Amino acid sequence: MLENSGPMDRPRTTLVTLERKKEEKEKVVAVTAYTYPEALLADRAGVDIVLVGDSLGMTTLGYKTTIAVTMEDMISHCRGVWRANKKAMQIGDMPFMSYQVSNEIAVRNAGRFLQEGGCDAVKVEGAMVDRVKAIADAGIVVMSHLGLTPQTRAMLSGYRVQGKTKKETDRILEQAIALQEAGCRLLLLEAMPRESAGYVAKNLKIPVYGIGAGDQVDGQLVILHDLIGMFFEFKSKFVKRYCEVGRVIEQSLRQYASEVRTGKFPSSEHFYELKDEELERMLADPRWKYVVESPK
Ligand code: KIV
Repeated sequence: MLENSGPMDRPRTTLVTLERKKEEKEKVVAVTAYTYPEALLADRAGVDIVLVGDSLGMTTLGYKTTIAVTMEDMISHCRGVWRANKKAMQIGDMPFMSYQVSNEIAVRNAGRFLQEGGCDAVKVEGAMVDRVKAIADAGIVVMSHLGLTPQTRAMLSGYRVQGKTKKETDRILEQAIALQEAGCRLLLLEAMPRESAGYVAKNLKIPVYGIGAGDQVDGQLVILHDLIGMFFEFKSKFVKRYCEVGRVIEQSLRQYASEVRTGKFPSSEHFYELKDEELERMLADPRWKYVVESPK
């Protein structure tokens, strides 16, 4: 059982909270979560933002990339997070092909994140100025995502650091300004040198967060499975592991398997009790076929 502690008396994170934190230079903490228990723990730990990322595909569904993730996958996982999360802002990540085709499809799918998935906002990858305007005009808070954008990784020739030159950084800044003017309220920069990300952040009015984008931004996002040691495919340079939950789980499963095989588990403390007189009755029944052994 979880103890009833943690910073749960804080107010729920809203846009105003995030804008105030930017003004007061208070760093914002964001983490991904994809399930009820993950969101419960993140919220209890006091994070400001929980992102139900389409990294779901890689961390939880076992895909090699995020491309196969569907709206149905996202909504289903958002619903688990919704039931757990009380205080963090919940942002739903629009998966590949849920917004690219038309403004109408983008708005409808963004709306589903709020209506069916309990999200407060949606995240859209790339410089999708038209789509962002349409979604924002529908009254939905949008976080844009620039720099390394995993859904278009083929166009970027793989998972490569972005904004390594002045020219590239200026292009990202131009895109960011256009998104801001279109109504985007939050920006996420991925995989950029700290100076380039800082340059973009300092030229915008909206809060700018980074994942692998250094410390000159208004806050950090980390993928939960990277942080806790539950992602096994690769580890990006910007990832800091705070624990090795994967190892703890594997070790526990090995011990469980061994204890079942050797008869150490379950033992008397895990048994339900049967009154003596009921046992007598059972033993007296001619259909009783086995000898009750004493617990080990
Ligand atoms: O899906 C996700 O978790 C993301 C992060 C990589 C930014 O989009």
